[in-house]
Amino acid sequence: MMTYNISIIKGDGIGPEIVDEAIKVLDAVSYACGFTLNYNEYLMGGIAIDVTGKPLPEETVAGVLKSDACLFGAIGGDKWDKLPRELRPETGLLKFREAMGVYANLRPAIIYDELVNASTLKPEVIEGVDIMVVRELIGGIYFGQPRENDGFKAYNTMVYTKPEIVRIGKKAFELAMQRDKRVCSVDKANVLEVSQLWRDTMIELSADYPEVELTHMYVDNAAMQLVRNPKQFDVIVTGNIFGDILSDTASMVVGSIGLLPSASTGDKTAIYEPIHGSAPDIAGQGIANPIATIESAGMMLRYSLGEEAAADMIDAAIKRALKEGYRTKDLASFDAKKVVTTTEMGDVIANYINKK
Ligand code: IPM
Ligand code: MG
Repeated sequence: MMTYNISIIKGDGIGPEIVDEAIKVLDAVSYACGFTLNYNEYLMGGIAIDVTGKPLPEETVAGVLKSDACLFGAIGGDKWDKLPRELRPETGLLKFREAMGVYANLRPAIIYDELVNASTLKPEVIEGVDIMVVRELIGGIYFGQPRENDGFKAYNTMVYTKPEIVRIGKKAFELAMQRDKRVCSVDKANVLEVSQLWRDTMIELSADYPEVELTHMYVDNAAMQLVRNPKQFDVIVTGNIFGDILSDTASMVVGSIGLLPSASTGDKTAIYEPIHGSAPDIAGQGIANPIATIESAGMMLRYSLGEEAAADMIDAAIKRALKEGYRTKDLASFDAKKVVTTTEMGDVIANYINKK
């Protein structure tokens, strides 16, 4: 029987609640498909600060690097917001992404037919939307040096080297080959040098993928086009900060940020996490939507473990739960037949897997 080692980072706020539901579903699906998952839990974020004094303990990095894949909840909260920047949970997360070398963050935005009414956009605008945002994750302005804030003057630096652009570009073109063969590269080449290099490099790279259509969009226009006509997009490839912003926009196109999973992949261990944050305001109330995390676990099975059938089962179980009208509170006003808690949603989905 195949056995995989999965590292688990629950994090802060709603993190533990939603990760527990994903584990419940993973257990159901591994049982149904006949493989074993060994879980090892590690600390990161605010909880790691409370327990160890650091947002990213060394054991976490070492442990996750040894595992086959990492399932991640969410980190951060008001409690730790006043700490100096190097001690903040978010700094831990960025260091973690860097240590794992996860340069490619895949954020799919797919509309569930059952939830077309949950979007603030008109059904005819969003029906059939299937976008893959490919965000560069360990470069750009998040990591660029120098950076400073001396109380009078503050700055950050947006840096990309050609090899960094090439590797993320390749990822986007390869994904497009398995999809609708269209890549839209988003930049701000009308203003920024770094974006000009980005655009020139994408054009050069596109010669290796003659079947893929490459288009370019300035980021401000892309933000507008995403809400005007999201169906025009297949794969969007962009840098770190533009991808951060555009993926939040894409999440609202499909209705709730509680639905969207992500995969952060590179040359080492991949990290799977919902795109939403730790939502401390609703933590512990049993109202968080676990679907984004369960779907992230599905991506983990598909991309890191090659357990396609198991991943398909998770997708089908989520669709069925939504079709039958189960809704967590965030989606309670959209064709809900039964409003359920976080745990109940996990039970319903896991139960549909057991029954196949
Ligand atoms: C995300 C988050 C993070 C980011 C924060 C928490 C540092 O917004 O994963 O999108 O900006 O990358
Ligand atoms: Mg974000």
